[in-house]
Amino acid sequence: MIEVEHLRKEYGNLVAVRNLSLTLDEGDIFGFIGPNGAGKTTTLKMLATLLLPTAGRARIGGLDITREPEKVRAIIGYMPDSFGVYDDIKVWEYLDFFAAAYKIPHHRRQRIVDDVLELTDLTGKKDVYVESLSRGMRQRLCLAKTLVHDPKVLLLDEPASGLDPRARVEIKELLRELKRMGKTIMVSSHILPELADLCNKIGIIEQGDLIVSGDVQAIVAQVRGGRALQLRAPEAEVPRVLELLAERSDVAGAEAAAGEVRLQFTGTETEPADLLRDLVLAGVRVQAFGEQETDLEDVFMKVTRGIVS
Ligand SMILES: Nc1ncnc2c1ncn2[C@@H]1O[C@H](COP(=O)(O)OP(=O)(O)OP(=O)(O)O)[C@@H](O)[C@H]1O
Ligand SMILES: [Mg+2]
Repeated sequence: MIEVEHLRKEYGNLVAVRNLSLTLDEGDIFGFIGPNGAGKTTTLKMLATLLLPTAGRARIGGLDITREPEKVRAIIGYMPDSFGVYDDIKVWEYLDFFAAAYKIPHHRRQRIVDDVLELTDLTGKKDVYVESLSRGMRQRLCLAKTLVHDPKVLLLDEPASGLDPRARVEIKELLRELKRMGKTIMVSSHILPELADLCNKIGIIEQGDLIVSGDVQAIVAQVRGGRALQLRAPEAEVPRVLELLAERSDVAGAEAAAGEVRLQFTGTETEPADLLRDLVLAGVRVQAFGEQETDLEDVFMKVTRGIVS
């Protein structure tokens, strides 16, 4: 759905985005993570056809962003990092205005406005002035605006920035709902853990370089040098579990705490199942077995310290 090849953007002498390549399939949610000034907004603006790349190319839904920007705009929804100023306009008028800009006929607009208000939980605010909304509501309204033409692809620049914890959770819920609707979403943030449970792919950008990108679990594994698994067994059996794990060539290390064993698994995708079977056959009463909760902050710090690159 999104194909980016060697995308580059220079502002004078400054290279804001360097040699950026990535591929997103339909239904992917890609978390685009990086510190201030990394190049997130620049990248999203290029994909949104608002900024011309200096070099490289990108296609969205098979359409080239520089050759067919109008067609690209019809299938994307772009949420900028700032809301802009809208005086003397009511919430429904704001949405109606954007729907009209997308050439949605008058008779269909009211229904669409009601639908996106419902989806973003703003139905009760339909007749209030935009400038009277709280920041969280404005952010939801901005997201509602990106949905009026039912785009396949959403480019969201820090949709949760500056929100309180509750509002952040609400935005995440909303993104989950959009995921269920089958949208392909690229969402930026400074904060990796915030996107962890939402995204199936992530990319980390720093000073214009995409230093790592791909499947969330694969990246975590790459950084850790293996997959992190955990299992629970009765306390008395834990020493035996550690013995069994120590004998295996596909376990790089294991430690126990409070009946829980955490281990680094270096085998392939399907082999954790073999490990579980072996433990059970050895008589261990395994109570729980699975991937460790991903500590993405940890991964982020390691990656941005250049361990992967
Ligand atoms: N219009 C511009 N003219 C010149 N330099 C720019 C312009 N826009 C951005 N830059 C520079 O390009 C680099 C990348 O900026 P960008 O806004 O893409 O970063 P970002 O990752 O979105 O950061 P933030 O997390 O602060 O939003 C920065 O060094 C910034 O100063
Ligand atoms: Mg930005």
